[in-house]
Amino acid sequence: MPTSGAAIAIENKKHLIVAIDGPAGAGKSTIARAVASRLGFTYIDSGAMYRAVALWALKANIDVDDHLRMEHLAREARIEFVPGEFTVMLNGDDVTAEIRTPEVTQAASKVSIVPGVRRALREEQRRIGKINSVVMEGRDIGTVVFPDAQVKIFLDADPHVRAGRRAAEVGTAVDEVVKEMTERDQRDRTRAEAPLTQAPDAEYLDTTNLSALEVEEAILKLVRDRTSNGKARH
Ligand code: DC
Repeated sequence: MPTSGAAIAIENKKHLIVAIDGPAGAGKSTIARAVASRLGFTYIDSGAMYRAVALWALKANIDVDDHLRMEHLAREARIEFVPGEFTVMLNGDDVTAEIRTPEVTQAASKVSIVPGVRRALREEQRRIGKINSVVMEGRDIGTVVFPDAQVKIFLDADPHVRAGRRAAEVGTAVDEVVKEMTERDQRDRTRAEAPLTQAPDAEYLDTTNLSALEVEEAILKLVRDRTSNGKARH
């Protein structure tokens, strides 16, 4: 349920999609979780889905370059988000911690290039958005997965600030993270299918000098502005 703080009257008749895209370390997860909780919406971390498929591929020893098998794996993967918690389940197992290791991070970046994997996960993401109002974060949510999302945000921050945030999260040196993040960003932005890019109708928010609360408030204001009594303005 929406908390009183959000003070947004949204009827449940039409599902709303809040798409939050941007590079690693821009603050997507923190912000998307908070916004989802304040709106009473389902929170979906699409990156966790790519990570879960990558983890399964690593465990099953499947070569990322074997696109057919990778697509099959993505279609077979049972990925679940436990409501109210930030637990990610893969085929019935809790993989929340395992999908955050540097090995899986690197593998997920490669897995996300495979068109069949993107296709399979996109279908699943759309299915979830059909039955729930969601805050979904990722790289291509506002551009490809939900091009008609009522609210689209592109979160960004200074690369050094982004690296600092990631380093604090994973407990490694900033220099190491800068290198790894630059490589991943480059791959995400230049891949042929669904590259990381800002949708023309997305609101650009630079979080470098903003607190999480300020970003949350800015997004909630956008949701209010773009919706009226539960109906999206067209
Ligand atoms: O957001 P993240 O770091 O957990 O994402 C893991 C990888 O998945 C990252 O390399 C980008 C990729 N990804 C993607 O290609 N499309 C998405 N919608 C979300 C993540």
